[in-house]
Amino acid sequence: MNMKDKRVVVTGGAGFIGSNLSADLCRENEVTVIDDFSTGRDGNIKNLVSRGKVRLVKGSITSLDALKTAFRGADYVLHQAAIPSVPRSVSDPIKTNDAGITGTLTVLVAARDCGVRKVVFASSSSVYGETPELPKRENMECRPMSPYAVTKLAGEHYCRVFTEIYGLETTSLRYFNVYGPMQDPKSEYAAVVPKFIDCALKGEAFPIFGDGLQSRDFTFVKDVVRGNLMAAESDATGVYNIGGGKRTAVIELAKTVSEVVGSGMKVVYLPPRPGDVRDSWADTSKAKKDLGFEPAYSLRQGITETVEWFVKERKSKTL
Ligand SMILES: NC(=O)c1ccc[n+]([C@@H]2O[C@H](COP(=O)([O-])OP(=O)(O)OC[C@H]3O[C@@H](n4cnc5c(N)ncnc54)[C@H](O)[C@@H]3O)[C@@H](O)[C@H]2O)c1
Repeated sequence: MNMKDKRVVVTGGAGFIGSNLSADLCRENEVTVIDDFSTGRDGNIKNLVSRGKVRLVKGSITSLDALKTAFRGADYVLHQAAIPSVPRSVSDPIKTNDAGITGTLTVLVAARDCGVRKVVFASSSSVYGETPELPKRENMECRPMSPYAVTKLAGEHYCRVFTEIYGLETTSLRYFNVYGPMQDPKSEYAAVVPKFIDCALKGEAFPIFGDGLQSRDFTFVKDVVRGNLMAAESDATGVYNIGGGKRTAVIELAKTVSEVVGSGMKVVYLPPRPGDVRDSWADTSKAKKDLGFEPAYSLRQGITETVEWFVKERKSKTL
């Protein structure tokens, strides 16, 4: 999938997924990033900004003025900005709500007013909650279990309503556990893949919340980037799963990471976290049919590329 000669805004472009999107898009398109750096890292886009490949607007997506500055003349908005963590939302639901719901509504208003052709919204598999059927299909019941998941479901509804009332084209992509280069391993809310890789490289034990048999559909970030470009350029609106399409237990992930790094596998078991679902697995057939999306990376391929990036960053002491 190749997008060319478009003007694209990436909200949250200094974050993990947003910076991967920006790096890919800026080769053949004009890219603007808006970010308030609340969870994003300057290092993720510093090079792109200093080489003039990306225009940076520092500001919050809750500010209509900042958004209008960023969105003027844009073809597409790839809306990634959010406070993206279930446990973080459990400890600070108001902050999650501000970015996730007020921020998304403000993005949609600004996109409508600036004549943007399409908004692609980063939703999440967490909207499904603890429902028994697997794999998850888009027409299944959603029962969010955390404030974070509530903001994602509300964002999807806002997108649909803006399409229906104002004719603004929108697509919501439900990402399933994304991992890859530029993902932050440091914060106390770090996602499981960067956390395990960091531990493996330091020879530390992998922390596992619960029994390790909980499963996730791990999705390599380059597949998510492709899914966004396909959604932006397609006529399809509505909700789509974007996943790796395979289900992996957390303990199996630990084994894969330790094999790729070549470290031993030590594990420390911690109590399960409130708001976390037991199992998650994407049925991506709707995205294949309407967007032409299929995941291209196996878990081992994706983990191998990610480990290579971590090793390089640690050598240059940027991580
Ligand atoms: N990483 C995953 O596994 C995953 C899974 C499902 C959905 N998502 C969604 O994908 C998107 C990107 O996630 P990520 O993993 O790259 O997270 P991230 O924290 O690395 O990126 C989020 C970015 O949004 C920015 N941001 C937060 N609040 C903002 C605000 N008010 N104004 C401007 N910028 C703001 C942050 O500074 C950060 O750069 C998020 O919407 C997240 O909810 C991620």
